[in-house]
Amino acid sequence: MTVRIAIIGTGYVGLVSGACFAELGHDVVCVDKVASKIDMLNSGGIPIYEPGLEEIVRRNSAAGRLRFTTSVTEAVQRCDAVFIAVGTPTKSDSDHADLSYVYAAAEEIAKSITGFTVVVSKSTVPVGTNRRVLEICRANIGENAQVAVASNPEFLREGAAINDFMCPDRIVVGADDQRAQEVMERIYSPLTISRNVPLISTSTETAELTKYAANAFLAAKISFINEMADLCEAVGANINDVSLGIGLDSRIGRRFLNTGPGWGGSCFPKDTRALLATAEQNNVNCKIVQAALEANEDRKRLMIEKVIHACGGAVNGKRIAVFGLTFKGQTDDMRESTSLVLLPALAQLGAQICAFDPSDPHEASELIGNINTCKTPEQAAEGADLLVILTDWMIFKTYDLKQLAAQMRRAHMLDLRNMYSSTEALAAGFTNYTGLGMPPTKRPALLAVAE
Ligand code: UDX
Repeated sequence: MTVRIAIIGTGYVGLVSGACFAELGHDVVCVDKVASKIDMLNSGGIPIYEPGLEEIVRRNSAAGRLRFTTSVTEAVQRCDAVFIAVGTPTKSDSDHADLSYVYAAAEEIAKSITGFTVVVSKSTVPVGTNRRVLEICRANIGENAQVAVASNPEFLREGAAINDFMCPDRIVVGADDQRAQEVMERIYSPLTISRNVPLISTSTETAELTKYAANAFLAAKISFINEMADLCEAVGANINDVSLGIGLDSRIGRRFLNTGPGWGGSCFPKDTRALLATAEQNNVNCKIVQAALEANEDRKRLMIEKVIHACGGAVNGKRIAVFGLTFKGQTDDMRESTSLVLLPALAQLGAQICAFDPSDPHEASELIGNINTCKTPEQAAEGADLLVILTDWMIFKTYDLKQLAAQMRRAHMLDLRNMYSSTEALAAGFTNYTGLGMPPTKRPALLAVAE
């Protein structure tokens, strides 16, 4: 059953959700204050990098189910549900989330509502925000209008957002009003009824906290495996096997057990900090989340030591090829990426950095400063003393390692994502391979001579 939906905010969450709701058959209008973004969307362009999104937007726009406007009033007037998907950045003076955009959106929506409308928070918001949104809406709606709120957190990973939306593990809906609950059930019925996706109904507070708890748990899971990787290095064990060995226990699960150079992005760092701020406000000690965050900050700095070590003790004058600048593969997002900690430190120590990222993030030089950004992997590898794999772009696996090794002055690889095996790297001509959480390997001298 078609629901008329407005989405306020066309960032990652708003645009993906809007396009996917249209794909599920609903009638969707996406709103953004930035006119240039709306113009771009109206002329078939996509302001963000998200695999698969362009096609869904094109298909649903052509079918008339997806439209874009700068006018909240025009979008909201005719709607059953309005989703708030605006930013909730960390405040400049504390670790709390800045809710000013959410509250401003709620006020503007309320003034335009006619009839019964559900105002839904998609943005990640601290516990209690939806109650405040309801108060703001009630204080601003017209005489004949009625409003209810719902919390519907998103669990979308950048780079995999379409699949995460269309095939979710679960949908969480927090609503204290029966009518709001019913509208939300109608919206998700193509997934819950046709695809058997579980929908969990909770109070708004529970839904709000569930989102933070999910991100904090995943962040802690990665910090944990990163700690185990350090231990593996110290005792000569192999983290890939440890991950598999524990991950196949269904109580633990295999996903998010890949060791790496520290987690980043727009969510984990911001949400763990905001969760800790909420805990402190409520006099609750969340030691595990605190430790996960601190361990992650330490880890990003530890990567500097690893590069220095792989360069033989000093990076001054060394040419270092870096593959990947974004916080993970399949995105152009550099927020809280380890590259922002690692590369300026190496440049400061005198390294010449030649970085390549498939998404060619335009702000890289501006954010990192003294680095050369290269257009191709070959350009970055040319004459390098070390190749550092920093981001897990799947496309890296298709590169010709043999050619890259041959181009380097000193064919050493430091794989901070364990994307390659030592066998693969050494067979391609690398003389040294260092992954995380495993003993470093060298090409046997005899093999090198024989060739
Ligand atoms: C995350 C959540 O996964 C998503 O549900 C939420 O709604 C938004 O935040 P995202 O920030 O897009 O998504 O990235 P994610 O894939 O979760 O990765 C976060 C960070 O953890 C990245 O830096 C990634 O490289 C790192 N990571 C992830 C690891 O180091 N190891 C892993 O096994 C998984």
